[in-house]
Amino acid sequence: MTRWLVTGAAGMLGQDLTALLAAEDGEQLIPLTRAELDITDPAAVRASLDSYQPDVVVNCAAWTAVDEAEAQEQAAIQVNGKAVALLADACAGRGVTLVQLSTDYVFDGTAREPYREDHPAAPRTAYGRTKLAGERAVLAALPGTGYVVRTAWLYGAQGKSFVATMLGRARTASPVRVVDDQRGQPTWTADVARQVIALVSSAAAPGIYHATSSGQVTWFGLAREIFGLLGADPSRVRPIPSSAMPRPAPRPAYSVLGHGAWAAPGIRPIGEWRTALHRAFPALLAAHQAGAAAGQPSG
Ligand SMILES: NC(=O)c1ccc[n+]([C@@H]2O[C@H](COP(=O)([O-])OP(=O)(O)OC[C@H]3O[C@@H](n4cnc5c(N)ncnc54)[C@H](OP(=O)(O)O)[C@@H]3O)[C@@H](O)[C@H]2O)c1
Repeated sequence: MTRWLVTGAAGMLGQDLTALLAAEDGEQLIPLTRAELDITDPAAVRASLDSYQPDVVVNCAAWTAVDEAEAQEQAAIQVNGKAVALLADACAGRGVTLVQLSTDYVFDGTAREPYREDHPAAPRTAYGRTKLAGERAVLAALPGTGYVVRTAWLYGAQGKSFVATMLGRARTASPVRVVDDQRGQPTWTADVARQVIALVSSAAAPGIYHATSSGQVTWFGLAREIFGLLGADPSRVRPIPSSAMPRPAPRPAYSVLGHGAWAAPGIRPIGEWRTALHRAFPALLAAHQAGAAAGQPSG
């Protein structure tokens, strides 16, 4: 039996991870939302570890507002860097395994082939720099029991995502303009949660793992796939270049990650993005329709 403590448990990934762990036989789960544990509060972090005595902490808490981080890097690093260092030190002092979620934004996004786990990091955004600081803190403090799990292009039944936005847009009649010069791997949060559980359960070697779907597609291609799944006309989705949609934080042109590290512990990578999207779709649609019925804004 493993005692799991999940921080950021009300986030998009946190919700799927806690649901999966709750359904596992013999696992003990302590899901803590931001209101229950603010990871930037050192005394609260130490008190939680002392009172709950977890075997594993999965840190799903993060500053995820990529554009806002450009103007507020000091605030973002409190959560993504300094708090993670604190958590890592607290885990190290208590023999606790730590899984830190991270991002494709640690890379520069200019590659032409999938980024290996050991490819040099070169973030081009404030968000990427803060997440890299968190990665480094975990690997330094926990050389024997620290995992960094990088993911990207997440969608889930709960929370904001590109997929959720497109489910809303498909209901309208207007054309939808979507960038066609950024490539990545759309990834279901439930699949990431399964990889995290498999990683810890297999006692895999510590280090960096990439939990993304395989294959690659642009946001435009993904939008068309979603429209097709809904029975909406995919030709309503029109391609545009990133230059037509400038944002404070530059988006990586190439966010495709390699999955070589899963071979050593014998864990299957997530698999092809389209297959995963089709598997996830009934749950995504049900959550979207429930939200629409409750009058929530889509996307
Ligand atoms: N979403 C993506 O496409 C994506 C891509 C690559 C990597 N990732 C990484 O994957 C992980 C999970 O992301 P997600 O999409 O599930 O993010 P999310 O939905 O934004 O969830 C993050 C959670 O962390 C909480 N949080 C923020 N500051 C906190 C603090 N100081 N103490 C405790 N909790 C705090 C947030 O609470 P509030 O809502 O109350 O602020 C929220 O519940 C993150 O590490 C993220 O960097 C995500």
